[in-house]
Amino acid sequence: MSRMRMTVIGTGYLGATHAACMAELGHEVLGIDVDQAKIDALKDGKVPFYEPGLPEVLERNIESGRLGFTTDYEEAAAFANVHFIGVGTPQQRGSYAADTTYVEAAIDSLVPHLEGQHLILGKSTVPVGTARALQERADAVAAQAGKGARVEIAWNPEFLREGYAVKDTIEPDRIVLGTREENSRAEEIVREIYATPLSHDTPFIVTDLQTAELVKVSANAFLATKISFINAVSEVCEIVGADVTQLADAIGHDDRIGRKFLGAGLGFGGGCLPKDIRAFMARAGEVGADQALTFLREVDAINMRRRQRVIDLSREVLGSLIGRRITVLGAAFKPNSDDVRDSPALAVAGQLNLAGAAVRVYDPQGMDNARKVFPTLDYASSLDDALTDAELVILATEWDEFKQLDPEHAGELVAKKTLIDARNVLPVDAWKAAGWELHALGRSL
Ligand SMILES: NC(=O)c1ccc[n+]([C@@H]2O[C@H](COP(=O)([O-])OP(=O)(O)OC[C@H]3O[C@@H](n4cnc5c(N)ncnc54)[C@H](O)[C@@H]3O)[C@@H](O)[C@H]2O)c1
Repeated sequence: MSRMRMTVIGTGYLGATHAACMAELGHEVLGIDVDQAKIDALKDGKVPFYEPGLPEVLERNIESGRLGFTTDYEEAAAFANVHFIGVGTPQQRGSYAADTTYVEAAIDSLVPHLEGQHLILGKSTVPVGTARALQERADAVAAQAGKGARVEIAWNPEFLREGYAVKDTIEPDRIVLGTREENSRAEEIVREIYATPLSHDTPFIVTDLQTAELVKVSANAFLATKISFINAVSEVCEIVGADVTQLADAIGHDDRIGRKFLGAGLGFGGGCLPKDIRAFMARAGEVGADQALTFLREVDAINMRRRQRVIDLSREVLGSLIGRRITVLGAAFKPNSDDVRDSPALAVAGQLNLAGAAVRVYDPQGMDNARKVFPTLDYASSLDDALTDAELVILATEWDEFKQLDPEHAGELVAKKTLIDARNVLPVDAWKAAGWELHALGRSL
């Protein structure tokens, strides 16, 4: 395998992981971000978010000299001829559409410094058509700079899951590359970059730019739809007294359906699924296929109703929320992450608090981020501290630490042994045997 040089622009969850893992694969990598504090931390070998295994990969590769970080685009332009873009594409304020201004800014900052031939590989999740527009933008910026640079934009969407980001980057389950139709050098270069995973028979799909862009948003739309499907069925189960977890097991045995992503409960959140399905709907409308994705509006609505259901259930269980001591276990949008972006757990905690409850939150990793979003909530110092004197406990994020909680021990700490398992993950019999009154979504216990 040949060692290559490359930059990674934007060193958030995606970019920092990608930079460190590309160095781990043997390449020489320079990460660039506009956030000086983030770059300082990364240079110091500190990952500014929680991702199991990433600190070790980061440290090892900084030490080996293969991985560096900077805020200087001129340095980036001189460092390599291959540049990944992993900057954010959040939901626009006041609209469903994705905000692509950060991706555009990355092009505007990098391209004026380029000389010779360069390949820019987009990894950010973008609306279909973005890569083509960025190619025109890059051509115009390069022409204006007058250094004769030739820049090709290709798209290499990222499918990593937070919590498994290192493994997913080093051993991806597929690699997708979208290139422009003529004279593309991208495939040859990308084959060299990913020589290690490709040598392990990783599926490699080379396609056009728009298909590559659509692959990513379609994958996320499918996953969101699967979760909302089971949560819609869960609503019916609640009314007729059926058990959604047994139902999911039963339909999941059909391998055309599969059991994964059929965990009925509080629904999805995070920095990707919610904004990606909304951006997909918005772009479908813009290209004239407005009816094609209207079902995603329903997927979004089902998902949001689950949060409200937990609030309503809490009120039903307690009679009134005013002044009641409720402990919410979980703040991160999913376990093994400290990411609280659009977190269902934190949304529930915040809503209960606004409705007058005295809410106490505990999360193994997400506390610092949660405090920034909801400074008014009460944050416990430990799981035991969180449980002490609670009148209602809500399991809102399925961390192992919560799943393995001893119901006897927990029962000695709380004021009232009442719990809502909003993720359907607790061993019901053991909890009942310990004297707990259990409630869940989509089944009566
Ligand atoms: N987080 C994930 O699990 C994941 C998975 C797949 C795809 N994605 C996609 O990857 C992209 C990034 O997501 P993220 O979660 O890493 O976001 P993030 O907010 O953690 O990171 C984005 C980074 O880009 C930096 N940035 C913004 N403008 C910049 C500029 N002009 N130049 C250099 N850096 C700049 C920010 O300072 C920040 O550090 C998004 O499009 C997202 O949808 C994320």
